[in-house]
Amino acid sequence: MKGRDLVALWDLEREEVEALLDLGAALKTDPARHAGALAGRTAFLYFEKPSLRTRVTGEVGMAQLGGSAVTHTLDMGRIGGRESVADVARNLERWVDVIGMRTFSQELVEQTAQHSGVPVVNLLTDLLHPCQALADLLTVRGAFASLAGRSLAFVGDGNNVAHSLLIAGAMTGMKVTVVCPPGYEPNLAVMDRARSIAEKNGAEVGYTNDLEAGVAAADVVYTDVWASMGQEAEAESKNEVFLPYQVNEAVFAMASKNAVFMHCLPAHRGDEVTDGVADHERSLIFDQAENRLHAIKAIYLATILGL
Ligand code: CP
Ligand code: NVA
Repeated sequence: MKGRDLVALWDLEREEVEALLDLGAALKTDPARHAGALAGRTAFLYFEKPSLRTRVTGEVGMAQLGGSAVTHTLDMGRIGGRESVADVARNLERWVDVIGMRTFSQELVEQTAQHSGVPVVNLLTDLLHPCQALADLLTVRGAFASLAGRSLAFVGDGNNVAHSLLIAGAMTGMKVTVVCPPGYEPNLAVMDRARSIAEKNGAEVGYTNDLEAGVAAADVVYTDVWASMGQEAEAESKNEVFLPYQVNEAVFAMASKNAVFMHCLPAHRGDEVTDGVADHERSLIFDQAENRLHAIKAIYLATILGL
């Protein structure tokens, strides 16, 4: 994947996703692996929205590989603000080896990628969160040994995280069902892409408003906040609609006997998930957070060096 962008998982081949997961797993087993491989290299990490996990793993991951990172937040200016997106991209490519971007607009990431000669990695947009999905596949693989045939129920808003899980699951032979209140289904264009990718990989993707049917027999019960970053104004009105879809002990018990619980974090405990589930012995939420580090290191190595 040397020199390639990661703006959406659908731009990758299944083999490339699997190679990233293998590399991530190897880095997890041996965190010192490839230490120094990115000596002298630099990542530019741009954030229009808050972040804990993505920012810290983006910086720490680069440091562990011997490189450095420059983090840029909105108080320092917006890409496309003082000068054109194309000009910003053509400046950055002269100085850095990879550009990570967390933005509202997916188009801004795509546009930057189009004008930049160095790889651009999507660190979350309103539409997608591919780095999260890669870390999540690593987590599911760690828990169940394989991905094909595993079923994941994403309970909540058909949002960026749901979208990337649909695509990631479709590429790796999983069954992914988004279980959501009416009106909060996944984006139809993303759903169409997920369906056509799923067909090629023996996977199954879909959505339902029926909580019990959607969660029944799932190996993974996954949830995320009801109101994503940028939707704060809608948070209160959403609470009532989403409350019946809260992942509490009773809902978790509808899944398969050995089901695990996952959440990309940050969690709003007491809303989309109860403490009993978030802190359950089968909750993997902090493994997911750890795996963000292994996943971003694998992405850096693959896109910068072609490993
Ligand atoms: N899961 C995730 O992307 O976390 P941050 O928003 O803290 O980066
Ligand atoms: N859907 C959430 C994910 C945060 C990591 C958001 O976009 O705010």
